[in-house]
Amino acid sequence: MSNATPQAAPLRHFLQFTDLTPQEIQYVLDRARLIKDKFKRYLPHHTLHDRTLAMVFEKASTRTRVSFEAGMYQLGGSVIHLTTGDSQLGRSEPIEDTARVVSRMVDLVMIRTFEQTRIERFAEHSRVPVINGLTNEFHPCQILADILTFTEHLGPIQGKTVAWIGDANNMSYTWLQAAELMGFTLHVSTPKGYELDPARIGNPAASTLRIFDSPLEACRGAHLVTTDVWTSMGYEEENEARRKAFADWCVDSRMMAVAEPNAIFMHCLPAHRGEEVTADVIDGPQSVVWDEAENRMHVQKALMEFLVHGQIKNQN
Ligand code: CP
Ligand code: NVA
Repeated sequence: MSNATPQAAPLRHFLQFTDLTPQEIQYVLDRARLIKDKFKRYLPHHTLHDRTLAMVFEKASTRTRVSFEAGMYQLGGSVIHLTTGDSQLGRSEPIEDTARVVSRMVDLVMIRTFEQTRIERFAEHSRVPVINGLTNEFHPCQILADILTFTEHLGPIQGKTVAWIGDANNMSYTWLQAAELMGFTLHVSTPKGYELDPARIGNPAASTLRIFDSPLEACRGAHLVTTDVWTSMGYEEENEARRKAFADWCVDSRMMAVAEPNAIFMHCLPAHRGEEVTADVIDGPQSVVWDEAENRMHVQKALMEFLVHGQIKNQN
């Protein structure tokens, strides 16, 4: 890094997508492309040398764990992995006290937990930036990766159409925040009884959100078709009822056929072939799910760097 690199940015958190401005999101996406390009060319990029990331997992993870951990090491930093089961969080230590202590010893914290209020309480008492690695309400790092992936395959997302098929879950609400912030249209089709909560979404413009009863109609003209599991983590007791209600919300080749001819398919993973998506779609030529998963790491490296250093002006 050059001497021009700022050493510390004002304290910022990334608890939901709207915590960054559109300009900052664009900066992170552009920076992710540079960082990814250097990674592919085996060039070192140690902008978080000597810094430490604490990761707190109160739910299971594969991608989030590996992408943050590998990413932080590649930035020259180190990582501490905590779970509810192996920390005092599982023995009722208040999250506020955990935040006070952990944030005196590390430079960044990533948390995967249940209610959004839990990560907000942590952030309120943290001296260092806190990143949402998934809550019941939002999954903002995933949508950053998805937009990076969209851009790589189809160019800027502004003015395009994304079709969300399935559950009104953390992913769908984050897509809606991104549509409002970045200027694209979100088509949403959910089964009856599993709709987006009007109290949470307010009154978005028709150019931001269109609701469809039919998942096929929601896919018509879409540039991206995307879905997620029928039952998210923490809702397992609803599994049987959901399997019945969601049976027609399975992304298949008919749905992909009415989307734009060059449309792509995404899924944050883990996926259940034969439930929310057919095997021929997720394993087919329009699917970009492996790029999407990989991009978690590149975009989170850019995000962590941004939260520690702010916007870096130099191109290396
Ligand atoms: N997409 C995602 O967040 O995957 P993990 O649950 O494996 O972290
Ligand atoms: N909506 C899913 C995403 C998993 C990455 C869940 O919350 O379980």
